[in-house]
Amino acid sequence: MRTSTTQLVLLGSGAREHALATKLRQDGATVHVLPGNAGIPGSVASISATDFPAIQNFCQEHGIKLIVVGPEAPLAAGVADYFLNTDIRVFGPRRQAATLESSKVWSKDFMRRHGVATARAWSFRSDRLAEAQARVEELAGQVVVKYDGLAAGKGVYVCSSVAEATAALTELRELHEGWFSVLLEEKLTGPEVSLIGLTDGNRIRLLAPAQDHKQLLAGDEGPNTGGMGAYCPVPFLDDNWLAAIRKDIIDPTLRGLQAEPFDFIGFLYFGVMLTPDGPRLLEYNVRLGDPEAEVILPALESSLLDLITATLDGSLAQTVVKQRSGAFVGLVLASGGYPAAQFPTGFPIHGIGNQGRGAQVFVGGVKPGDKPGELLTNGGRVAVLVAHGPDLPTAVQLAYAEAELVYFQDKYVRPDIGQRPTPQLTTSAY
Ligand code: AMP
Ligand code: GLY
Repeated sequence: MRTSTTQLVLLGSGAREHALATKLRQDGATVHVLPGNAGIPGSVASISATDFPAIQNFCQEHGIKLIVVGPEAPLAAGVADYFLNTDIRVFGPRRQAATLESSKVWSKDFMRRHGVATARAWSFRSDRLAEAQARVEELAGQVVVKYDGLAAGKGVYVCSSVAEATAALTELRELHEGWFSVLLEEKLTGPEVSLIGLTDGNRIRLLAPAQDHKQLLAGDEGPNTGGMGAYCPVPFLDDNWLAAIRKDIIDPTLRGLQAEPFDFIGFLYFGVMLTPDGPRLLEYNVRLGDPEAEVILPALESSLLDLITATLDGSLAQTVVKQRSGAFVGLVLASGGYPAAQFPTGFPIHGIGNQGRGAQVFVGGVKPGDKPGELLTNGGRVAVLVAHGPDLPTAVQLAYAEAELVYFQDKYVRPDIGQRPTPQLTTSAY
């Protein structure tokens, strides 16, 4: 029985976990993915990511001492708390710290307590929505309405009029029974970047800055989704902006984590908007972003396994993060109809495994077909095709050419990933 930490369990089942498993294997680990999916080698479909006793048995049977967590659900369900007094280490925060993601109201209070630069906001319980309506009118509908809980990226309404904001409040009232809270934020403008680091609450090591594309349609139109594509690094995020993000967002966050009565170990994601008044934090996630991970991990030259181990050991200070040169672009291959509640799935997927140099596919919403090795679509975001090129335009071109070669019925790929016009940013305003 092997007991070294080079054997590990990875929790989750999406394309992000496929990218994590791939990277950790390149770093020398033996990776078991619970439950994984039909397209990720080493998947154990019978064990769900929130069945902690079954995960513990699996670890004991295989002599595994390390669990890396992909999605938020096991963290919010307390996986790090469950294994606290065992000899199995979990890379991911405990339940209370995971509230930074799972409650928008709590997270906003944390930002305020610790002086993290963020949008002004007001919270309302569901029995006080009339007050929210009054605030919406005061702000002339230029607000963002956020449901206070995990909503898989779909609980946020960016509004441009009183009518839209009113409709958002009405929809939330219809969707959710019982008590809930709503966060109303002033609407900010500017490009967004995703900054993700590994932190032990004292230090942080940032991975490559990335940009997501949350809306379904070209030109950032249409409904919000879990993410339609990503690229890294972000050319317009220069040293001045990075320094401002460190000073106004990351450093206050670390000071906050030290001051709070909980520890934080794991990936910490900062969703940042570069506004005319400086950087503002829109949200924390307590995990790698999806689809950001699918580009950030191939871009990482350093060993992720070593970085994870160093974070758990409290020795991040002795690490350096090296990135590969060039640009990485990830296109989500989605099912037509996503993100609606229902759309057809179950279509055979062709062309995975035929990628040329510099391209790879990470699979998410898939299930096994009848024939050996066959994959069928089984969700909204079916796979992420990632391409590497010397610069962003070349990587974009390669990604779209390769995406043509992966086929399933009703496939939808947003056509403008990595092609937003370079934003005109001023750095003089702050
Ligand atoms: P969140 O889940 O809080 O990051 O919100 C999802 C998306 O809504 C963000 O990526 C932004 O595109 C948008 N958004 C959130 N908060 C704001 C805000 N205060 N102003 C403008 N857009 C926002
Ligand atoms: N791509 C944004 C997220 O993972 O929440």
